[in-house]
Amino acid sequence: MKQLSICASIIFSFIFIAINGSHWYYYTKISSRVWSSFNVGNKSNKVVIPETNLVKDRASKHSREPSNVMWTVKPVGRLGNQIGQYATLYSLAKLNGHQAYILPRMYKTLSTLFRINLPVISQEVDYQIKWREYPIKNWMCPQYKNISGQYVKLVGVPCSWTFHHHNWGEILREFTFHDFVKEEANAYLSKVKGVQENVTFVGVHVRRGDYVKIMPNKWKGVVADKGYLQKAMDYFRKKYENLLFIVTSNGMEWCKKNINNSLGDVYFAGNETSPAQDFALLTHCNHSIITIGTFGIWVAYLVRGETVYLSNYLMPDSPYFRFFKYKTSYLPEWIGIPADLSLHLKKKN
Ligand SMILES: *[C@@H]1O[C@H](CO)[C@@H](O)[C@H](O)[C@H]1NC(C)=O
Ligand SMILES: *[C@@H]1O[C@H](CO)[C@@H](O)[C@H](O)[C@H]1NC(C)=O
Ligand SMILES: *[C@@H]1O[C@H](CO)[C@@H](O)[C@H](O)[C@H]1NC(C)=O
Ligand SMILES: *[C@@H]1O[C@H](CO)[C@@H](O)[C@H](O)[C@H]1NC(C)=O
Ligand SMILES: *[C@@H]1O[C@H](CO)[C@@H](O)[C@H](O)[C@H]1NC(C)=O
Ligand SMILES: *[C@@H]1O[C@H](CO)[C@@H](O)[C@H](O)[C@H]1NC(C)=O
Repeated sequence: MKQLSICASIIFSFIFIAINGSHWYYYTKISSRVWSSFNVGNKSNKVVIPETNLVKDRASKHSREPSNVMWTVKPVGRLGNQIGQYATLYSLAKLNGHQAYILPRMYKTLSTLFRINLPVISQEVDYQIKWREYPIKNWMCPQYKNISGQYVKLVGVPCSWTFHHHNWGEILREFTFHDFVKEEANAYLSKVKGVQENVTFVGVHVRRGDYVKIMPNKWKGVVADKGYLQKAMDYFRKKYENLLFIVTSNGMEWCKKNINNSLGDVYFAGNETSPAQDFALLTHCNHSIITIGTFGIWVAYLVRGETVYLSNYLMPDSPYFRFFKYKTSYLPEWIGIPADLSLHLKKKN
């Protein structure tokens, strides 16, 4: 009997090594790379991809059996989009009982800020695999509970709480900031605050840049204007004392001209060079004001304070509604302030 169990354990050890050996292969290409990190003041911080802590445990913990099923997601866009893709992959793979992996491009984008846990497949392996590309919409659908295929690559730009509201604890854990990111963001806010006590910070994200043109021309909509920002900020001014608004934007010049700072409670913080830095700063505030885009939505999801968002910014016949719904993007308890669509109508005439 004893011999039998020793024999069995030897066999199991071999299987274990074999499985982990094959996983090992996925990392060897990437493990030695060093990505330079997000950083505010100290250029010497670096993030090194951990050599091993990734697949070994998680593959066996999360999937029902060591399996040859692999799920991933195609990294598209910048920070906000990739956070949404990561979270959706995480939730849908879990729902289907399969191990999720991310690609190096996503690792590079997200690991500068977060202690993400999903293992990474090398680019070379990605090219070799014959993926089943599976398009996903920007909201949860019943068929996503049962996606078949050995190698599944989700394709889309999902950014919706409907994929993971049942699973928020784990999603929030995936987006835990590195300590140095937290420290730098808090040091920055503390500097802004100065000697004031008991300050309530409201992070304000104003998405402009290319969307100033794309929104009216392609999507029959508008971006946030001066009036919206005044209303959104006044909402918080009525409710809280000792407020400080921390504004970041990819159109800072416009913000400085158009955001009313007569009370001296607005701090223009973003300098357009580092979206990761802006993201960290906004998510360390207590509440959020957001305009359009996935970046702001994810800031607000992670802050979990009060959120004011721009609503009704698309004409009823906007083609954007093919893949976007207000209801599935913005949490029910968030406060929507409708955009002034007359601007769009004026532009057209
Ligand atoms: C930057 O960080 C490194 C390592 O954490 C530390 O040794 C160094 O003193 C820091 N430099 C500055 C200027 O803060
Ligand atoms: C899942 O899909 C497979 C094939 O696509 C089908 O055979 C199976 O019955 C489905 N399972 C459920 C629970 O719907
Ligand atoms: C901070 O604000 C809270 C609630 O508004 C209040 O109870 C507390 O006394 C304030 N602390 C200071 C130091 O002002
Ligand atoms: C600027 O903001 C203050 C505080 O909300 C408000 O009282 C004032 O009317 C605003 N000024 C303009 C020009 O909108
Ligand atoms: C903006 O941030 C970058 C990176 O942190 C920094 O190098 C640069 O000096 C900053 N520019 C201004 C105007 O603050
Ligand atoms: C508001 O945010 C600051 C900075 O992150 C934090 O120190 C403070 O505890 C927060 N206040 C509340 C009431 O959560």
